[in-house]
Amino acid sequence: MIQPLATQLTLTINGEPVSIADLSPAMTLLEYLRLSGRAGTKEGCGDGDCGACTVAMIGAGADGKPHYQAVNSCLIPLGAVAGRQVFTAEGIVQGRIPKEALVKEPVTVEQLHPVQSAMVETGGSQCGYCTPGFIMSLFAAYYDGHPDDLSVEGNLCRCTGYLPIRRAAQMVAELAPQDRFSEQLVAASTVLAPLAYTGQAEQFYRPTHLNEVLELLHQHPKATLVAGATDLGLEMSWHRQHYPVLISLEAVEELKHLEHTDEFVEIGAAVPLSHIEANLQGVFPSLDEMIHWFAARQVRNRATVGGNIGTASPIGDLPPVLLSLDATLKLTGPSGERVMPLADFFVGYRQTALQPGEVIVSVQIPKALTPDAARRLAQSYKIGKRGTDDISIVAAAFLVDLDASNHILHARLGYGGVAAIPARATEAEAFLVGKPWTGETIRAVKPLLQEAFTPLTDLRGSAEYRKRLVVNLFEKFFVEFP
Ligand SMILES: Cc1cc2nc3c(=O)[nH]c(=O)nc-3n(C[C@H](O)[C@H](O)[C@H](O)COP(=O)(O)OP(=O)(O)OC[C@H]3O[C@@H](n4cnc5c(N)ncnc54)[C@H](O)[C@@H]3O)c2cc1C
Ligand code: FES
Ligand code: FES
Repeated sequence: MIQPLATQLTLTINGEPVSIADLSPAMTLLEYLRLSGRAGTKEGCGDGDCGACTVAMIGAGADGKPHYQAVNSCLIPLGAVAGRQVFTAEGIVQGRIPKEALVKEPVTVEQLHPVQSAMVETGGSQCGYCTPGFIMSLFAAYYDGHPDDLSVEGNLCRCTGYLPIRRAAQMVAELAPQDRFSEQLVAASTVLAPLAYTGQAEQFYRPTHLNEVLELLHQHPKATLVAGATDLGLEMSWHRQHYPVLISLEAVEELKHLEHTDEFVEIGAAVPLSHIEANLQGVFPSLDEMIHWFAARQVRNRATVGGNIGTASPIGDLPPVLLSLDATLKLTGPSGERVMPLADFFVGYRQTALQPGEVIVSVQIPKALTPDAARRLAQSYKIGKRGTDDISIVAAAFLVDLDASNHILHARLGYGGVAAIPARATEAEAFLVGKPWTGETIRAVKPLLQEAFTPLTDLRGSAEYRKRLVVNLFEKFFVEFP
């Protein structure tokens, strides 16, 4: 049942109950924290890139249990934190210190959290601007048992204090957390209650069932769906976009399942990438590889597969992989459920086959090899300006099934960043079928790949560079999997 609209939402920040009224549900958590005097959380970029604004939030991990999750507070709308427990750098000292007391007396070294002490001890803070964000990423990783380089991959330090920060991470990695935060985790719930909130003439709904989403879309045909808000959050934070009605998908039970059988894998549209990363490890190597290079921890904790497809971005990283794996989408809407190949979903620049009132429910990926195939080769590649935490210039994912005599039975070449939509090089695929998997075949397919797409020149790369990558990445695939 859809909740009646309330003019107040609640959450806890550093253990203190907080009630919010008369604020837009699309205001970012970061903006709220700083407006309410919790200025320990810093704003660097305001678009998810630097990690200065990182806070920890209790949420369901890949195992379904409560975990502290590092997230970028500059991307999360207030509506999405309703009912949540949020922790910031000022709130993690050992022993709860009331805010008023902190104003009078600063925290002593003895009161610091172990990750804070380790940063002090190793000299991990120079100008200190990035420090609260590093602290919160390390805090979340500390309770997960792996404070390491990867846990801070989404945090930038402009003073290049990485070595001492790394030492701080190593220092706390040796400790076994046993404190009020680990106790709190055991007692925490991951259930997100339904929400209907209005503030500043904007509405935010968080239904828990798919039929309620469809009903809400029927009532508000111009409403915007939001999942992890790592894409939409940017619109809210940077572009100050207003959304009169937001419908959150993150509590919708039917969108959160992940099914893995012998024949296929089905991933609910609202499953965050960090769950896919952990629960499907080793099932699809090209998916593992792409998720590894996808943004950084804070974004992967929130970003969903449905959101990555829903943006229909030509440089979205999952579509090339999913195209190479022949994924299909399950959609549902006013006229019922339908299934379509992902290849038919993208119809133009940022345009999809989604009909009004429809929602992406899940992605299904078949596992079976082509009949008579002796082996499958599959891999993905991402070319960006930086190794981690960057978007693609070109992304590519390849899959070939070979018979016992090394002839190609089936080929899929998915690309992103080379056309208005993520697309397959279908002519090259057709050419490859029946040919032997040899250097000669790769040389012969090159002209087709060279002409497969007409990419654009933009800030990230020239059209010519992208055209070359289309060919060279496939060649690289052959070199790596001869
Ligand atoms: C710092 C940073 C780094 C990033 N790096 C990468 C990267 O490396 N690779 C990459 O591909 N992307 C990247 N992104 C973009 C973004 O994180 C992804 O596109 C992400 O998958 C979006 O998922 P979400 O759940 O956050 O979507 P949201 O922001 O919640 O929604 C995105 C769009 O999809 C629609 N939508 C969401 N769910 C559904 C659904 N079930 N049905 C229909 N429509 C739906 C929404 O209406 C919205 O239009 C990055 C973003 C940031 C901020
Ligand atoms: S302020 Fe840079 S990631 Fe949020
Ligand atoms: S200490 Fe200055 S940015 Fe990291």
